[in-house]
Amino acid sequence: YPLKHPKEVAWSFAGPFGHYDKAQLQRGLKVYTEVCSACHSMRLVPFRMLEELGYSEAQVKTFAANYKVQDGPNDAGEMFERVAVPSDYFPSPYPNAQAAAAANNGAAPPDMSLLAKARGVTRGFPQFVFDMFTQYQEGGPDYIYSLLTGYENPPAGFQVPPGGHYNPHFASAATLAMPQPINNDQVTYDDGSPQTLDQYSKDVSAFLMWAAEPHLEERKRTGFMVMVFLLIFVGLIYLTKKSVYASKE
Ligand code: HEM
Repeated sequence: YPLKHPKEVAWSFAGPFGHYDKAQLQRGLKVYTEVCSACHSMRLVPFRMLEELGYSEAQVKTFAANYKVQDGPNDAGEMFERVAVPSDYFPSPYPNAQAAAAANNGAAPPDMSLLAKARGVTRGFPQFVFDMFTQYQEGGPDYIYSLLTGYENPPAGFQVPPGGHYNPHFASAATLAMPQPINNDQVTYDDGSPQTLDQYSKDVSAFLMWAAEPHLEERKRTGFMVMVFLLIFVGLIYLTKKSVYASKE
């Protein structure tokens, strides 16, 4: 059964001048928190980073306090659990990888910190050339979006293995251990955005892109300045060459 190519979404952060849409990232955070974080950790992302999405220090503190993290060892040499603070990272809901796999038919849910960069598929030319320099910034979220919206009934005669779910967008096989995680109306949005599977999937994919590449905008800006500098530099070198090797006659 052929695996399907990711659907291409028109992301706000695409292209050399793209920007993250903060309202979208906030909605994506809500989807991650209410749905994905039940199974997926994000252990490279500290809570304090959420201030970049427009939340205040106090809001981030309150948010972090919803989580418990492992700490220790204490003076008695024991590990202990405590309420999370902004400098902690999004923890795993499972004590370890074995427990995570055991709870999900043998496949541990991958950490989400870099997920948006893990499965990037380049788009056609010239996007291909652009992607070489930008780490698949659109292919990754395209993949997550496609997976979330890509569950369907298996074709006639296809044997779905026990505990598997048919999805031709999954990168390594047509079935995976994750059941369709979100559906229409599952998460309440307070900014009037449509509460649909399509919108949830776009928002959480954009959020995961931001989690994986929070400095995307600065990097694009720097890249642009480098190109401008190179253009001017090439012009200067050319003029220098012309003057140094100018004919004396
Ligand atoms: C795998 C996203 C919620 C359990 C994946 C993958 C993605 C993903 C993109 C595939 C990674 C790859 O290509 O290897 C999401 C998102 C969620 C979400 C965006 C929230 C909207 C959940 C929930 C569960 C779960 C709630 C648990 C019930 C798993 C498992 C895998 C997985 C077990 C591994 C599948 C396998 O390798 O067969 N998730 N997930 N996910 N997810 Fe989720």
